[in-house]
Amino acid sequence: MTLANKLSHFPPTFQWGVATAAYQVEGAATNDGRGPSIWDAFSHTPGKVLNGDTGDVACDHYHRYSYDIGLMKSLGVTHYRFSVSWPRIFPQGRKDLNVKGLAFYDRLVDTLLDHGITPILTLYHWDLPLALQQQGGWQNPDTAEAFGHYAQTLAAALGDRVKQWITHNEPWCTAYLGHLSGEHAPGLTSPSAAVNAAHYALLSHGKATMALRALRADLQIGITLNLSPVYPDNNSEESRKAASLQDVFNNRWFLDPVFLGRYPEELALILGAVPQHTPAEMEIIRQPLDFLGVNYYSAQVVSAPQRHQPAWPVPHVTPRDRTTAMGWPVIPRGLTDLLMRLNREYGPIPLVITENGAAYDDLIEEGMVHDNERIAYLSDHIEAVADALGQGADVKGYYLWSLMDNFEWAFGYAKRFGIIHVNYRTQERILKDSALWYRNLIREALS
Ligand code: FCB
Repeated sequence: MTLANKLSHFPPTFQWGVATAAYQVEGAATNDGRGPSIWDAFSHTPGKVLNGDTGDVACDHYHRYSYDIGLMKSLGVTHYRFSVSWPRIFPQGRKDLNVKGLAFYDRLVDTLLDHGITPILTLYHWDLPLALQQQGGWQNPDTAEAFGHYAQTLAAALGDRVKQWITHNEPWCTAYLGHLSGEHAPGLTSPSAAVNAAHYALLSHGKATMALRALRADLQIGITLNLSPVYPDNNSEESRKAASLQDVFNNRWFLDPVFLGRYPEELALILGAVPQHTPAEMEIIRQPLDFLGVNYYSAQVVSAPQRHQPAWPVPHVTPRDRTTAMGWPVIPRGLTDLLMRLNREYGPIPLVITENGAAYDDLIEEGMVHDNERIAYLSDHIEAVADALGQGADVKGYYLWSLMDNFEWAFGYAKRFGIIHVNYRTQERILKDSALWYRNLIREALS
């Protein structure tokens, strides 16, 4: 069976979306009172981002959002996932509200709704106000408090029109890439910083969820985790043990506290530390959620013995595997397995694929981008979602990463994930073949 034969697995209410994040697309880094974030500081530190790229201008979405929403409309997407830049709202992290910054998201949401596109909002996609970092950032419990207040402020302003809310995007990256490997802002390299940052980011998720619910009962609230299944390379006990430890690191570090209210014991074996935590904090972290956001890019095959870090990018690429321009193996089956496992071990919980997509080295030929590898990647993964739906998983939506090429963190503008090509010199947008393919797929699925 091919994807075309499985389109009936998608319910008519399925969310066919695209995703972006504030620092990756907005630019306008100092406009209208926006304060600096840790990513401004990090990207402006020599040697941290490839080619010295920064998000100062990015896709200039801050000024071109209306045009970009027109493009989304032309593709027929039903939903748009974006993130809010916390330092646009609170330039110092707390206290003084920046009305102009808030007004941008007000316009964005209204323009989406005018075009019949449903917004889904992420509160934190990595751009912590620098002022909060200077007070310890995610290692300081006060940041969790400030996050709750920020969440409530946004919900008071936008909650009448935005009904789906995501607290954090990929806290694993905040903790590990930001505090242990140092590849992401704030660029620290300490295991204890990583476990504590993870803990207070999770606590802030719980606090924000409570704050949002206290304000409005009609919001759908979730968290987005980057999850990557792990397969042993053979059935030996050593390989299975290695895979299960890697799974703790990749997945259970965040899934267990969010859904079960506890950290996996093996975390200490991997990271050399477990966070200091109280039962009361774990209760706050384990909030009933309306959905789990799943970001899926690849899976891992491990053999024993294996060092359990770092896990990303994914090692053990066999010569048989196709890989993306990030070097990540293309393993669509991992997505079906993951969705079924979440359903089995952490459910019942509605699932939303909040990111999936691929970087390739695109070429412009006569004004067109024939990105057939990306189309194959997307088709195989959307088929994997159809398979999970066919097997009973409750998947509500699929958000393609990304609407357009953008600032890919430590890789700057060198890696292109968009279905729309962006010329960073002229800001011209070109629909890649994958955009037209996605448009046709959505059209067929909804017909
Ligand atoms: C995810 C991030 C997203 C993007 C993709 C490629 O980890 O959430 O911002 O960079 O990877």
